[in-house]
Amino acid sequence: MKPLLDVLVNKTPSRRPIWIMRQAGRYLPEYKRVRESAGSFLKLCYNAELACEVTLQPLRRFDLDAAILFSDILVVPHAMGLSLDFREGEGPVLQTVSNLAEVERLVFQGPFEQFDRVWETVGLVRSSLAPHLALIGFCGAPWTVASYMIEGGSSDRKRALAVAQTNPIWFQVLLDRVVQASIAYLLGQVRAGAEALQIFDSWAGDLPAVLLERLVSSPIKQIVDGVRQIYPGFPIIVFARGVSTSHGLIAKSTNANAVGVEENVSLRDVLAQLTEKVAVQGNLSPQLLLGSDESLFAGIKSVLDDVPMSRHIFNLGHGITPPTNPLMVEKLVAAVRRYDEHLV
Ligand code: CP3
Repeated sequence: MKPLLDVLVNKTPSRRPIWIMRQAGRYLPEYKRVRESAGSFLKLCYNAELACEVTLQPLRRFDLDAAILFSDILVVPHAMGLSLDFREGEGPVLQTVSNLAEVERLVFQGPFEQFDRVWETVGLVRSSLAPHLALIGFCGAPWTVASYMIEGGSSDRKRALAVAQTNPIWFQVLLDRVVQASIAYLLGQVRAGAEALQIFDSWAGDLPAVLLERLVSSPIKQIVDGVRQIYPGFPIIVFARGVSTSHGLIAKSTNANAVGVEENVSLRDVLAQLTEKVAVQGNLSPQLLLGSDESLFAGIKSVLDDVPMSRHIFNLGHGITPPTNPLMVEKLVAAVRRYDEHLV
């Protein structure tokens, strides 16, 4: 009934599910207006009514198949006790940790003050969604979240990588605490009405392949297990962005229902590495939404030619960018629907 959930549990969907990473955001004028009235990005994240409103905005414009909760991956370190601010034109500014004493001060078993408001958003969204739409909850993966906690903001992750490789005792304690807090964050989202989860490892592509098991797959698997211990079989998408030829390995070692794939990787090649129960998500370049109709359509066709509808969740290879004209998103959705109608 819900195409996104059908693909995740290996059933044939009534149509190819489509959603777009960062589908609620600054490319929409109505988002900018609500964000303005909230006062700041973080206030918007923690105001359930307004966060619900911006979650629903893209669904009023586009014929998508899922809503994604409006929140941020940095809500988890914030709830663990680190101060957080989002500065205009600068991105996130997060308090850092750099030794065992600081890591041991992090809250990891709750109570997590900030989570309640996000869970409230989930409940509000779920109760107002049309029946064919699925609600996706999410968190950041431990490597990506820990890298922000070490670096303090958007960076080249060099320091985090050095810490991970020299592997002081506190780094493993940090990963473990992020795992525990993330499980609590996701369980609350599922309790409140999320129907699928995505774990974002945006910086997985920084890592040499030999480190992927320890830093990416293993902590993600602990989160997957923690969720499924309470909700057996719960559908989870793992997006280890940038790992190119390692998506198959990651799917296998995390037990994901689907893997998100970055642009410029052949979905056909990824599918060939997966068991038939696992689907792929992706992977149109967000840059194609900034160009001509011709290049957009060519890009869409090359993604769709690679993967059957029953194993595919259409998405971008990364988040939609602020200069995108919403009209291009409308054209994208129409083009995917048109392609599938000509198939049958
Ligand atoms: O996808 C959605 O529409 C749901 C909401 C969502 C946001 N961030 C809202 C947001 C999701 C799923 C995220 C995930 C997230 N946040 C990731 C992983 C995905 C990715 O993009 O790689 C990461 C790394 C973050 C951390 C983060 N949040 C950064 C680095 C920034 C600043 C850069 C930027 O785009 O401004 C944010 C801010 C942020 N998160 C915005 C939105 C809509 C823009 C804030 C604003 O309105 O000013």
